[in-house]
Amino acid sequence: MQQTGFLGTAAPWGTDVTLLLEMGMGAGLLTGALLARKGFYRLHAVCQSAIVLLNLAVIALAMFPSFHRQVSPQLRGKIGKPYYALASAHAALGVIAEIGGLYILLAAGTSLLPRRLRLTRYKLWMRIVLAAWWLALLLGLATYARWYVPLR
Ligand code: HEM
Repeated sequence: MQQTGFLGTAAPWGTDVTLLLEMGMGAGLLTGALLARKGFYRLHAVCQSAIVLLNLAVIALAMFPSFHRQVSPQLRGKIGKPYYALASAHAALGVIAEIGGLYILLAAGTSLLPRRLRLTRYKLWMRIVLAAWWLALLLGLATYARWYVPLR
């Protein structure tokens, strides 16, 4: 097995970094949610906003280019294979979670959106986006396992 990363799988170094960053962000969002429960709303807002923006950068610099290179050219005809199906389901949910995070950031943290697009049921939407994010994260872990961890 060719191995260039540091986690002992076949993944390259940069991919292992992405994996750790994404796991850290998933844990960070849960910590941020706890901060809100304890009433630290300002800290909660800073924590969640930083994670949503960092994730946007990781998608743009690492995951979107990888999807464009390795998945999109093969989608026609191979979407039924786990290698492509997992990555596609992951990317679709990842786009939804990231757009949801950016929307909450704009709607709750700024007054840039027109009044009719602002949120009224903050808690509900934050919970929905957190759940979608964690599902995308789990599908990302499954993609990593399918792509880089050989079956014995
Ligand atoms: C909330 C949003 C997201 C989370 C939490 C997330 C998480 C992860 C994780 C943990 C991995 C495994 C590490 C890796 O293989 O690099 C991964 C891989 C991947 N993700 Fe995402 N991701 C998100 C959004 C996206 C989006 C929007 C796309 C596509 C446009 C995408 C495409 C991919 C691809 C293609 C891989 C395999 C990358 C490779 O190994 O070269 N992800 N993701």
